[in-house]
Amino acid sequence: MPIEFGERIRRIPAYPLAAGYDLGEEVAMLASNESCFEPHPDAIAAAHEALSGVNRYPDPAYQPLRTALADRYGIPFARVVLGNGSCDILLCAGEALLEPGAEVVYAWPSFSVYPHLAAASGARAVEVPLDSEERHDLDAMAAEITVATRLVLVCNPNNPTSTSLGLDEVEAFLARVPRHCAVILDEAYCEFALALGDPYASVALLRRHPNLMLLRTFSKAYGLAGLRVGYGLCGSEELRAAIDQVRQPFYLNVPAQAAAVAALAHQDEVERRVAHTVAARVAITDGLRELGLWVADSDANFVWTHLPDPEVEAEIVAGLRERGVLVRAGTALGRPGALRVTVGTDAENRRFLGAMGELV
Ligand SMILES: Cc1ncc(COP(=O)(O)O)c(C=O)c1O
Repeated sequence: MPIEFGERIRRIPAYPLAAGYDLGEEVAMLASNESCFEPHPDAIAAAHEALSGVNRYPDPAYQPLRTALADRYGIPFARVVLGNGSCDILLCAGEALLEPGAEVVYAWPSFSVYPHLAAASGARAVEVPLDSEERHDLDAMAAEITVATRLVLVCNPNNPTSTSLGLDEVEAFLARVPRHCAVILDEAYCEFALALGDPYASVALLRRHPNLMLLRTFSKAYGLAGLRVGYGLCGSEELRAAIDQVRQPFYLNVPAQAAAVAALAHQDEVERRVAHTVAARVAITDGLRELGLWVADSDANFVWTHLPDPEVEAEIVAGLRERGVLVRAGTALGRPGALRVTVGTDAENRRFLGAMGELV
């Protein structure tokens, strides 16, 4: 007789996992929006040093990293929430805010984890199509907010389409969201976003919107994806407390926290890497446009392109793989007939463009 699992197990969509981690170093891993740069040497050293103390649990208040983030962004310590990657915070927010009868509104296609939140809680997912330029349609999203809406997710820049919203657009949208409804502005890629200005710009919104959380990560610009460290900057202490209430006490490991504190202290290096990534994304965008493809205006560390015909998607992804380049097929991300490619090293980007030239 089969094991009887909870009903939500049948509802929760499987996350589209990237393949290729077993293929060795020769393969250009351009499928998961990671950083192609190794962590800063001080972050590696800090993680190493912290290992000798792991006979102890982490400090349950996670003082060092929360203090470093509170100081950097000028918000109270009690409004900084941490997580085992920002995904962890998203899932906890779903658990804290959603239940059967509630609604969660987000754009689609957007980050693949969002559908999980409604499925896990029994809430209703309201997916609002992106506009013709693959950007959030904030008017359409605002129109979907009802008394039942508990959570709105805005992904800026949007994964997988790379497009971003200006701060003025975000602010005008927030003014239309009722206070009973929490908003998570998912800024996993904010360090790469020229439209946002800089990672400080949206922090000012927290002063005016207690229902807002800026969700961020050390997985992208800081190059610590494998250590799993995410954080949220909250407009109110209640939001942080609700998230901490639904989860286990020790969610972030000691070496990861130490590495994140060290990485945060090297903003000069973050800026250098971001500048390199932004220049490379322009080169990839131009290269694809020269091949006659439609390419979204990227504000992230990846590029999103439409293929001339949805039928060729699988063929192109397979052709790239044969040439040692892994990218994400649009079908897995909610838009058949598209590709998402992460900015890699200069050599990897050249290999990708060369292969696309052969395949398109
Ligand atoms: C938009 C967005 N949000 C959140 C995440 C989660 O990142 P992490 O859990 O590594 O912090 C990702 C990862 O790709 C993402 O693209």
